[in-house]
Amino acid sequence: MKTYHVITFGCQMNERDSETIAGMLEEQGYSYTEDPKSADAVVLNTCSVRENADKRFFGVLGQLKNPHENREGMMVCVCGCMMQQQHIIDTLKAKYPWVDLVFGTHNISEFPVLFKNASREKAHIIDVLSEAGPIAEGLPAARAYGFKAFVSIMQGCNNFCSYCIVPYTRGRERSRRPEAVIEEVKELAKNGCKEIMVLGQNVNSYGRARSVAGTYCAATDEPHLDFAGLLKELNKIEGIERIRFMTSHPKDISDGLIELFKDPGHVCRQIHLPVQSGSSRVLKEMNRVYTREQYLDIVRRLRQACPDIAISTDIIVGFPGETEEDFEQTLSLVEEVRYDSAFTFIYSVRQGTPAAAREDQVPEEIKHARFGRLIEAIHRIQEEKAEKYRDAVLPVLIEGPSKTDPDMLTGHTESGRVVDLPGDPSLIGRMVKVRITKPQTFSLYGALCEEQEDR
Ligand code: SAH
Ligand code: SF4
Ligand code: F3S
Repeated sequence: MKTYHVITFGCQMNERDSETIAGMLEEQGYSYTEDPKSADAVVLNTCSVRENADKRFFGVLGQLKNPHENREGMMVCVCGCMMQQQHIIDTLKAKYPWVDLVFGTHNISEFPVLFKNASREKAHIIDVLSEAGPIAEGLPAARAYGFKAFVSIMQGCNNFCSYCIVPYTRGRERSRRPEAVIEEVKELAKNGCKEIMVLGQNVNSYGRARSVAGTYCAATDEPHLDFAGLLKELNKIEGIERIRFMTSHPKDISDGLIELFKDPGHVCRQIHLPVQSGSSRVLKEMNRVYTREQYLDIVRRLRQACPDIAISTDIIVGFPGETEEDFEQTLSLVEEVRYDSAFTFIYSVRQGTPAAAREDQVPEEIKHARFGRLIEAIHRIQEEKAEKYRDAVLPVLIEGPSKTDPDMLTGHTESGRVVDLPGDPSLIGRMVKVRITKPQTFSLYGALCEEQEDR
């Protein structure tokens, strides 16, 4: 039997796409193998959000050159966000002409045909579409887990934050029809899925714009569901015990969504709400369309609706023109919000975005120094906040062996904290009660409670 391996860079949307690609290969009779170098087909699904992602891709691709040369018939395919950029295609043509197939983010549904043609004709095919069509439904998926799943509800992004490449690589925002989403989640629940992660670059604008013909628009199409409305429908699906979502753009958060947190049902009391900067001046230049004050007001309202909601964020340091004063505003916002966790990024120049063209780039050493100060504050707060979990008994969905110690199990709390605990692998996929014995900055250490509800 022929084997495949898919290597994924980037965000959960990309991981979800890789599950589709894997599903398509399995439909063609390929089976999964751990080792890319010995696989008959390797697909690299790329990310371009920061320069590091680009570099890592070229490194991994380079390592496949020898196995590809030495093994007749081995197929190496590349796809994803990097491929939507002409300068990357030019580099591939010049330096990696041996790659068998290049496709983009808008023609994943064509992959089976492209793959067959490239392998049958032993041709090098490059097929990247510059514009997205409607969302293809009913594609296969080889999901990474049975008990938890990614559910993508929309694609693309219309926001054009001035630093970000995503709107160029993923095209215009398109929402899936609510029936298709609900059907997918019902099917997942039927097959034993307990937790879903609802995905979109900006889930708060679900159903807002019909940028592409044939996609869903809540204003004109039945049923008229905005994001909060969709969550309420998903909340009714039996068997789904946890609903998470990301990413939530502050500018589009609705009163309805905040209201929902008063009685969230299966929606986890947790929100990822990227702030990017604490300076209103920088936020304006980033084209984020909210001020520091508006962001803080959203946080206040969320906590009013749901006092123990866990809030996480994304922050960029060293955006062009960021002064020491701007950066201190980011630090003070972090102290004010006291995030449960935060992803921090050093600004990375992305060719073709407005911020890349600016001449007032912040010097590397200043960016790194600020980054260090920011992480110090974030970790200190995260550690302080972990203390509140000491001795708490919490439901944890056991997801697999621990990343730090394969003899331990790992899972997440409702708030999204990692929990490591000793236990039998037969617990994987079960929601169990865990007593937290040792809270740490990045993970909570716990023990299985003796009394378990039967689930
Ligand atoms: N759609 C999501 C974010 C997707 S990208 C949102 O708007 O919240 C994930 C994160 O990468 C962003 O939140 C941002 O913090 C970071 N990011 C995006 N472009 C970047 C760049 N050019 N340099 C550094 N970080 C960047
Ligand atoms: Fe990028 Fe902004 Fe769109 Fe997020 S909302 S994907 S940061 S352009
Ligand atoms: Fe990267 Fe594309 Fe996601 S650029 S972060 S894989 S949308």
